[in-house]
Amino acid sequence: MSQKPSITFTKLAAPRKGSVVVLWAEGAGLSKSGAACDPANILERASEVADFSGKSGSVLDVLAPEGPGLDRLVAIGAGKASELDDYGWMKLGGVIAATLRRTPDATVVADLPDAAADAGGAAALAAGIVLRSYSFDRYKTRKGETPDDEAQKPGKITIQTSDPAGAKKAFAAMSAVADGVLLARDLVNEPANVLGPLEFVERIRKLAQLGVEVEILAEKEMKKLGMGALLGVAQGSPRGARLAVMRWNGGKAKDRPVAFVGKGVTFDTGGNSMKSPSGMEDMKGDMGGAAAVTGLMHALAARKAKANVVGIVGLVENAVDGNAQRPGDIVTSMSGQTIEVLNTDAEGRLVLADALWYCADRFKPAAMIDLATLTGAIMVALGQHHAGLFCNDDELAGWLAQAGSETHERLWRMPLGPEYDKLIDSKNADMKNVGGRYGGAITAAQFLQRFVKDTPWAHLDIAGTAMGAPSSEISQSWGTGFGVRLLDRLVRDHYEK
Ligand code: BES
Ligand code: MN
Ligand code: ZN
Repeated sequence: MSQKPSITFTKLAAPRKGSVVVLWAEGAGLSKSGAACDPANILERASEVADFSGKSGSVLDVLAPEGPGLDRLVAIGAGKASELDDYGWMKLGGVIAATLRRTPDATVVADLPDAAADAGGAAALAAGIVLRSYSFDRYKTRKGETPDDEAQKPGKITIQTSDPAGAKKAFAAMSAVADGVLLARDLVNEPANVLGPLEFVERIRKLAQLGVEVEILAEKEMKKLGMGALLGVAQGSPRGARLAVMRWNGGKAKDRPVAFVGKGVTFDTGGNSMKSPSGMEDMKGDMGGAAAVTGLMHALAARKAKANVVGIVGLVENAVDGNAQRPGDIVTSMSGQTIEVLNTDAEGRLVLADALWYCADRFKPAAMIDLATLTGAIMVALGQHHAGLFCNDDELAGWLAQAGSETHERLWRMPLGPEYDKLIDSKNADMKNVGGRYGGAITAAQFLQRFVKDTPWAHLDIAGTAMGAPSSEISQSWGTGFGVRLLDRLVRDHYEK
């Protein structure tokens, strides 16, 4: 992980030296404390010259203004102050982090005219700074040579707010979640030669330091449980297979847990139904679901969420090899249902079939939500700005969609139904692992549904959002960490008491 900026909160007091960032509300300008940083109304004049009106995300940058001490004075457009929600504050933090590329040490006056003391806002702004400052630079041995590298230099940022104690407290939780996002991004960005199933498990074991109970099933135990679907995918790789079970028991002993299940294909060549070479390198990110579940468990444990949560990830590599499974092979899943593997590149659902069944069977969760970079078809349907949401429970679907719009990790509901389910019936086994030409994301979801029993369940197809998604105010990373903030919000709003 790249180094994180260090952030502290202090009371409002006009800074007199260094770099200073103030917020400018559209239509209302600077707050009293913001204006106090501006010795000779420099920003007022500059705003007229530059036609700056405080539109959300716009920047007015004045270098070495005249007057005592200030090196740089920046006004960040905050839009209409009344419309700022948590995500809005987070985006401001992102814009600030991007603006401070070459002067990373700064004071930010997180105050707006007429704004009530907003400790949550200042904390969200800080979280936005942390998220935007991330870059995956572990393998750059010559840091700081290109302007791009320099951009990533983390700084010391002092955030002034009317309620520093409140902001510090709110930031403790938000920073736990941000750390979970950064962990997920790191896992997705890591190349597959470095991060295979066993190495992924080592990263998961570190969560024990936060109080997460970690249990690892190796091939032998999985074989005993009858996980022929998951093991069939893994059999072509020398790098092993693991099922990791993470448990965070922050709730009451009697509460049924909420469960999250992730697809963890550390590399997807397609197997014998091999993918074409162009863009295949992206398949190092085919464990984005497992990364999100791991990042989420980190977040929940680090902020001591008052809920019982289970995280399960199926970790395999889908390799090409003399021992790899062949199209036409028939495997028996832990559920007892048989699957004809017509396409070895539709491997994620095979991994999830056993992981979901195991989860439902052992934990009887109140709800079970899986995340998977499951289909190219979901990207055709929704592009990269929404993940696909498939759900057998309208209430759960509503909660997820709501959490999605609040965190801006947005979901779009897709259909399930018997007509689609029929498309995966097989002549030779209970089902086949691919449907026909149409509705590929839906038939994949129908396949998963055959392994959830009657558990309230949701499937998030994050193929378009977990990696390579367009960068945003709070992410410039290829691996986005999509799902961590979303599901943290879901747990906070619906499973914590
Ligand atoms: N991991 C891929 C899906 C994927 C594609 C994720 C592009 C991210 C970007 C998945 O295992 C896969 O190969 N799916 C196939 C299914 C098909 C063979 C039915 C697909 O989408 O083409
Ligand atoms: Mn595949
Ligand atoms: Zn895959």
